[in-house]
Amino acid sequence: MGKIKKIGVLTSGGDAPGMNAAIRAVVRTAIYHGLEVMGIRQGYAGLINADFIPLVSSSVSDIIQRGGTILKTARCEEFRTPEGRQKAYENLKAAQIDGVVVIGGDGSFTGARLFNEEYDIPFVGVPGTIDNDIYGTDYTIGYDTALNTVVQAVDKIRDTASAHDRMFFIEVMGAEAGFIALFSGIATGAEAIIIPEVKGEERDLKKILFDGNKRKKSSNLIIVAEGDEEGGAFAWAEKFKNEYPDINIRVTVLGHLQRGGSPTAIDRVNASRLGSAAVEALLDDQKSVMVGLQNDEIVLVPFSKAIKLHKDVNRDLLTLVRILSI
Ligand code: F6P
Repeated sequence: MGKIKKIGVLTSGGDAPGMNAAIRAVVRTAIYHGLEVMGIRQGYAGLINADFIPLVSSSVSDIIQRGGTILKTARCEEFRTPEGRQKAYENLKAAQIDGVVVIGGDGSFTGARLFNEEYDIPFVGVPGTIDNDIYGTDYTIGYDTALNTVVQAVDKIRDTASAHDRMFFIEVMGAEAGFIALFSGIATGAEAIIIPEVKGEERDLKKILFDGNKRKKSSNLIIVAEGDEEGGAFAWAEKFKNEYPDINIRVTVLGHLQRGGSPTAIDRVNASRLGSAAVEALLDDQKSVMVGLQNDEIVLVPFSKAIKLHKDVNRDLLTLVRILSI
């Protein structure tokens, strides 16, 4: 028997549809390999407070189709401190947990990386965030579901926009990244997208919408990523209203409905693959790495890279938005 006999699993940061499928895969893969599993509740806060529950195969029955996370999640300031991480280490030791799978985003991996610089209990990450903004993986858990939720909502907005000849500024999630905005913009035939990755002249909305020999449209949809430096959908709408008082403008902020709901098939399958791969990585003596998907293959990416490097949007897709909205 190897040195890993019992593992812990936690979800951390913003929840994402498919996290439950990942938890299920971690638990069942661990049991398949003869390991015991502890669920750690409320993310890193549960490590610090020793909020652990044993998980058996039936604990993860009937969850693959559910949004949210059965383990709950949180953003934990205390884990950012050396004292917090020391408490976490002591609790893990006392519970005889030999390795931890962290399902979360780059903030969660930053904590995991620090912990692995200080302590010898290996942490392996599974990318879980609707934003899809983690370097080293083509995909993050929850992105596909969120994207489809946005597309359904924007299609509905298009009906009313068209009926009233209105311009809509629609705000989607993405604190630092425009993946949801870009992909939903293409999928819904939006006239323009505003994302943090595009700056300067390239984002001149007036030019994009009204310049040259553009067909005059009676209604327009503009998707704005919430993290845009010039403000969200309300700020952009305000600017436009002042310059074009004749245009009938409305704003919709999609908000947290993007984070909920039953995961799509893609999210369930990928979360299952990644959760399972994380356990295999721990058994393989890996530490301080994230399991990711590149070209549909499982890869291991050091936390140091996943956190520090920036995942850029595909610039060809920005051009595509312009071409297809003439
Ligand atoms: O990181 C995922 C995300 O959904 C971001 O897109 C968003 O900015 C943030 O979480 C909101 O988080 P919360 O509602 O937890 O403050």
